[in-house]
This record gives sequence, structure tokens and C-alpha cells, in this order.
Amino acid sequence: MLRLNSAGAWTNLQHVRMVNIFSDEVRREPYAIYEQMRTQAPALHVPPPFDGWLIFDYEGVKRALNDHEAFSSAVPAPPNWFIFTDPPEHSKLRALISRAFTLRMLVDMEPLIRDLSRDLLDRAIAREEMDFVQDFAVPLAIQVIATMIGIPAQDWAQFKRWSDGILKLSYSRNGGAEAEEAGCEFRCVTTEMTPYLEKMIHERRAAPRNDLLTRLIEAEVDGERLSFHEILGFFQLLVVGGQDTTSALISNAIVCFLDHPDQLALLRRSPELMSSAIEEVLRYRSPFQWVMRTPRREIEMHGKTIGAGKLVLPMIGSANRDPKIFKDADRFDITRIPNPHIAFGHGIHSCIGAALARMEARIALTDFLARVKRFECASNEAWEPRKALHVHGPSRLPIRLS
Ligand code: HEM
Repeated sequence: MLRLNSAGAWTNLQHVRMVNIFSDEVRREPYAIYEQMRTQAPALHVPPPFDGWLIFDYEGVKRALNDHEAFSSAVPAPPNWFIFTDPPEHSKLRALISRAFTLRMLVDMEPLIRDLSRDLLDRAIAREEMDFVQDFAVPLAIQVIATMIGIPAQDWAQFKRWSDGILKLSYSRNGGAEAEEAGCEFRCVTTEMTPYLEKMIHERRAAPRNDLLTRLIEAEVDGERLSFHEILGFFQLLVVGGQDTTSALISNAIVCFLDHPDQLALLRRSPELMSSAIEEVLRYRSPFQWVMRTPRREIEMHGKTIGAGKLVLPMIGSANRDPKIFKDADRFDITRIPNPHIAFGHGIHSCIGAALARMEARIALTDFLARVKRFECASNEAWEPRKALHVHGPSRLPIRLS
């Protein structure tokens, strides 16, 4: 049976084998381990100092996401990110933020995303070789979030620097010196962002614009508005929750196409399958592999008792490969119906940016496949995983174009 030790390593007690789940090798392909855990220990206790639980099966993960009465979202994380709040505070913040996150905004963003995608591809295609992640998926996702917030193009380099600083927070769940450094950098970024955002808010109050910031300032529910710290926290959350995950989705699609050329050929013959192909990438290589919860009371799950206050990681990436729910779960099938994946979460915290992420992926991948008739991997080395531990996908993906 596999167990996770305090250093994030899996011990196979029968075969005396150690596997570090945060090693590049496992984070690149965690699926064989997930399968073993779903059958042997769908709810697994990890001994101290981690002293928490991992849930691997679909029903268990969905229950943890859905049952917000039993599983709180308050976890060790920045306090002003509304993803980590519970009702009634979460309900108030979500209602206010939803006022700003409208269908109208999506419609307005579409031509803009097309322009950004075209410009980035113009530059990459001219070189005949590109790093799909760093030259395309990452800058596209950053520029979309920056534009949506209302940050002008001349400040995008600064926004990228802030993003990198915010993202580092999620690199080091193991603690130690790296985590301390990440916390330090996050505080520096917050200090720099504060006067920048104050100035932007001042400008929007004087002259409202058609951007997310203006709508967040104006949003009002039952006479309540968002505070400055809530807006700042929301923008920081967008970097971790919206930007890194969306670029991982777009990159993971290319990983899937390289690994499954028959499915790419099918998509080229039947481009109307693009939306269903994106859903399958979300299931097969879920960008957000796990989220965090804290039980408010003792919970019984799979014959185990999860103590109140322990950290619980519902493993979305494993749930989406559960053969009890998905036929041939390890097969990448762009025609899969039904596909009830939970890559965007479930319940009251389900992703507020799912429609935007889907639209961005559809535009980027359609554009790329239309302009690049053939592409192949330009490296013999296995790809290096993203740094944020909960995000699944390559940090670089060199490809040759023809
Ligand atoms: C493929 C891309 C994306 C994936 C896989 C993803 C996944 C998720 C998941 C799993 C959750 C639930 C977290 C939980 O239950 O604790 C979530 C929440 C959230 N996502 Fe996304 N997300 C993506 C893109 C985006 C984008 C583009 C945005 C915004 C622009 C965004 C904003 C948010 C926010 C604000 C929440 C918190 C909602 C709440 O707590 O009520 N996400 N996302």
C-alpha cells in the first residue's frame, strides 16, 4: 500500500519503494499512482508534520467540494482571497464579483483575445520553432487577465513581474526556506501593487471605463460594495486561479495532441469537435490538480475518520480519471459523451472564470491549428512540470512548425 510521508514522498510498503509525489517525474504523470490510491486508499492520511488527508475518488472529491457545511474553504492562505472564505462572507463577495463578471464582458473580450493570439502567433511562426508555453500560452493568458482588469499595455511587463511573485506563493507547500522567501516576495509585490491599484481606482472613479476594475468599484449588492483590500485580493487571486491554469489548459491540449496524433487528425477533419476536445483535455490532464479544504467536524469517509481542522486535499486530477464515472478513463477521446469532469470544481466555489477559460482555449487552439499545419516536439527531453504544485502542465514545450 502506498503512503505519503512528511516530505511528500510515497512509500510502497510492499515493495519498499519511495516515490516523491512532488518530483518532476510524478507531477508529469501522476495517473498510475492515482489509480493505485483510488483502489487501495481513496482517503489517505499523511502523517505529521503534514498531518492531512488526500481524497482520490470522484464521489469523495465531489462530496468535499459540494458539502461546504462540513468542509470549510478557510485554509492557510492569503486572508483577502475570497476563494478561501465561507458563507455568509463568500456569498456576499461572490455576488458582488459576479456583478462584474458578466456575459457582456466575455463578448467584449472575444475580439481582443483574437488580436492578442494573432499577434503572438505572428511572431512565433516567423521563427519556425517556438516554445509553445513561454512564447504563446503564458503571455496570452497574462495579457488577457491584464487587459480584463484594465492594465495598459505599457505596464504589462510590470504586471508579469508581479504575477511571477504572486505565483511563487503556490510553489512551496512543503514549507522551509523557499516558502519563507515566497512569502517575503508576495509581501513586496503587495506593497508595490497597493499604490498602483489605488491610483487606478482613483482614475476609474473620476472617469469610468469598460473594464473589470470599473465594474468591481461600481458593483453593489444590498447597499454593500467591495473594499480596497477585497479588490486587491481578487486581482492577486486571478493571477493564481485564472492565469496559470488557463495557460496550462492551452499547453496541455498540445501535449495531448502530440501524444495522441489520431485524435489531432480527427480534430483537424472535424473542427466542430473543438469544444468537446477542450472538455476532454480538462478531464484528462486537469490544470488544477487539487484544492484545499478544512473539515469543521469529524468526517467519515471510506471507513476512515478525518479529524476536524485537518488539511484535506480533494484530488481533482484523480477524480477525473475515476473509472467508476468515466468509461476507459485513461483513454484520451475528444468525442467523449458524457464528460461530467469537475476540472472547474463543484458547488459554491465552482470556477467563476470557466467560460472565459473555455473561450480563450477555443480561440488560441483554433488559431494555432489553422495556421500551423504540422508541428512536432523539438526536444527529446521529458517536459518539466509547472512550478505551482497544484497546477498540472509543462513549463516549457519547444515545438518545430511546418
Ligand atoms: C482552465 C482554467 C481554469 C481552471 C482549471 C480553473 C479551476 C478552478 C477550480 C477547480 C476552482 C474551485 C476552487 C475551490 O473549490 O476551492 C476555481 C475557482 C475560481 N476560479 Fe478558476 N479555473 C480556471 C480559470 C479561471 C479564470 C480564467 C478565472 C478568472 C479570470 C478564474 C477565477 C476563479 C475564481 C475567482 C475562483 C473562486 C470562486 C469562488 O471561490 O467562489 N478561474 N477555478
